[in-house]
Amino acid sequence: MNPSTKSAVVRSFAKVNLILDVLGTRPDGYHAIESVMQTIGLHDTISLTISEGGTIRLSCDVPSIPTDESNLAHRAASVLFESRGISPGLDIRIEKRIPAEAGLGGGSSNAAAVLRGLDRLLELRLPCEEMCALGARVGSDVPFFVVGGTAFVSGRGERVDPLPDIPPMPMVIVKPPFGVSTPWSYRRLDEMRAAGDQSEVTGERETASRRIVEYAGFRTLQSAVCSLRSLLSNDLEAPAIEQHPEIEEIKATLIASGASAALMCGSGSAVFGLFETDDRARAAADSFVAAPPCRPCLVFVTRTVTREEAVRIE
Ligand code: C5P
Repeated sequence: MNPSTKSAVVRSFAKVNLILDVLGTRPDGYHAIESVMQTIGLHDTISLTISEGGTIRLSCDVPSIPTDESNLAHRAASVLFESRGISPGLDIRIEKRIPAEAGLGGGSSNAAAVLRGLDRLLELRLPCEEMCALGARVGSDVPFFVVGGTAFVSGRGERVDPLPDIPPMPMVIVKPPFGVSTPWSYRRLDEMRAAGDQSEVTGERETASRRIVEYAGFRTLQSAVCSLRSLLSNDLEAPAIEQHPEIEEIKATLIASGASAALMCGSGSAVFGLFETDDRARAAADSFVAAPPCRPCLVFVTRTVTREEAVRIE
């Protein structure tokens, strides 16, 4: 970062949910969740430039991404400026790699990256709790991205308790050609539960969330992969797979190509597979590209990222 030009470049990492338990509906219409979220290396790059003038301008190299106030990065800047009673000019440039409607949190991550970048550029030194509170006004997943790394997330997503970092784990992400709408997913899960399709879910998954907190100090990659295999779960898989059975096929293909475990990302539609070595992850990605269960699939080889790396601004 060069302070004299008041510009910064911030990496905006994606996430996966190692566990996503949907506990039930809340009076505000959101769902109470318990989740273990994990930053991964796949990232967008955000350039921020402060200027005179009072207007927030946003541009993105992917034409389908909105560049107006509906973009969460744009909204994050507005919320921060409003809270401080300031109105500088700001140019936000987003180079996109994280696919949309994938469950990877791309928009929320961009919002948190803008908050962290502006905090640095404007020398605000906001406490993490204050940045999380601002982030929660922008979207449920934003506070997690302010904290990053491995974290236990609850409430509607706004309560974030950092966990010790898990060892960097090789990972393959597969994004099928269709997306899944998050509000639809939650609604459909409610309907499925009301119809009795998912009766046992809450009790068992609650236990899983608590258990991963105990497992969080994984010593080695092998023990982490081993423990995670039995702990990974995502309540939003059921509605997504009902709508798109290809998600189940992608999971099975990842396991058949050497993944220790595979799970849908957030509300979908992307799927991640965890691998014990980078070589195995790369080989699996190559075989996936050669024979995908549905076309066109985007395939990314990445790994989990520690908190220090997730929030570092060069
Ligand atoms: O907070 P955010 O705008 O990211 O949420 C998108 C939508 O996902 C909400 O409008 C809601 O329908 C659903 N949601 C939910 N419970 C959560 C988070 C999101 O029902 N904890």
